[in-house]
Amino acid sequence: MSLVLCLAVTGLCFSLLEKQIRRRPVFFYLFFVLLSLLSIFLPKQLTVPPLAYLVNRLLRRGVLAGSMFLWVMYAIVLPQKSRLQRVMMTLRAQIAIGASILTLAHNIAYGQRYFVLLFTNAGKLKSYELIASCFSLAMILLLLPLTVTSFQVVRRKMNAKRWKQLQRFSYLFYGLLYLHICFIYTGGLRKGKSEYLVQFALYTLLYGIYLMLRLTKAFLKKPLPTAPDYAAKRAARRRKVICLHGAISLLMLLVLLFAFRTVQAGKQGSADTAQVQSTSAAESANSASSASESASKAEDTGAAPACGSGIAAAVPDGEYEGKGVGYNGNIKVKVSVACGKITAIEILKTDDDEEYFYDAKKQVVNAILEQQTTEVDAASGATSSSDGIMKAVKNALQP
Ligand code: HEM
Repeated sequence: MSLVLCLAVTGLCFSLLEKQIRRRPVFFYLFFVLLSLLSIFLPKQLTVPPLAYLVNRLLRRGVLAGSMFLWVMYAIVLPQKSRLQRVMMTLRAQIAIGASILTLAHNIAYGQRYFVLLFTNAGKLKSYELIASCFSLAMILLLLPLTVTSFQVVRRKMNAKRWKQLQRFSYLFYGLLYLHICFIYTGGLRKGKSEYLVQFALYTLLYGIYLMLRLTKAFLKKPLPTAPDYAAKRAARRRKVICLHGAISLLMLLVLLFAFRTVQAGKQGSADTAQVQSTSAAESANSASSASESASKAEDTGAAPACGSGIAAAVPDGEYEGKGVGYNGNIKVKVSVACGKITAIEILKTDDDEEYFYDAKKQVVNAILEQQTTEVDAASGATSSSDGIMKAVKNALQP
């Protein structure tokens, strides 16, 4: 639960370091610049587990930045006069600037794939990836002026009314951020990944609750008429607030139900694909073993063996393990060979992001099995994972 961890750690750090951050925000920003640079320039194949988790999961995937934006959002709706609200309201601008700096690493990590395809070959992006990329672009465009005007020096030079008007666009940013996550997670949900459902449910709850609290606050801020209408108007307003909460809760429930059904359908689809693959693997193994039998018969009769002619042609029957380097680290595979033919490829280990690896695995493994060579086309946008699988298979078959 990376998001919960980030929310807890950042909440604690901001509470403990409130004075220091307020007095010397430059050091705070420099710290995030350093974190961003580290995650941009550190090699992708990190082997030290805590560092790999920090860089690959929390920084490059945008979880830390996302949790900081959540604090910025929640600052205004946290219980009034609580210590946490005071801290978050005081540090709101600094946290927003820190989060924007952190998104740089995330933008570079994922922009390399999505933006490159968006501007060069948009047809290769799935529809939900295309929409998510467009939202990301809009978010970046919004974030630039919002971040620049969050600096005290800039804010002081601006007209207060204009500053407030500009900062209202942050609500649009939050909305786009939630939609960005929704569309980006669609891939994982459609593949039946329950972990995506849990993360998605968490984001939906956090954004939904925020929407309820924020609208209630805005609604209750409106002045009420004085007596004699006061009590009736107050009761009517309360009823409206209850209706508003009910409507948002219902919307959240529908979104979650839809996500749940998407995951169930994805699981069913994956089970069907796995069945088809295992049937074709079994058929391939059968044909290889009958070829093996006829080969040994041929050998007995002095004729040339009729085995496979691909990369595994000279490899004795058996199972072999091999390694290759993917996007985030080593990929380990188990390759089964029967009568000079690759009959199955199993991925034993990978650190690559599920989102990319799934495409690479599906395309490259099938292509190797069909063509009996490791020189097959890489999956578009998942070149490193594809190359890693090809190299691992090649490595497994080497004597
Ligand atoms: C202002 C800019 C951006 C912000 C604030 C942002 C924020 C986020 C957040 C909070 C997540 C969810 C992380 C999680 O809990 O799993 C996320 C996921 C993701 N974002 Fe962004 N994002 C931004 C821009 C981009 C851009 C430009 C791209 C690529 C074009 C992108 C691609 C992705 C992808 C692929 C994921 C899914 C990561 C995964 O879980 O595997 N984002 N983003």
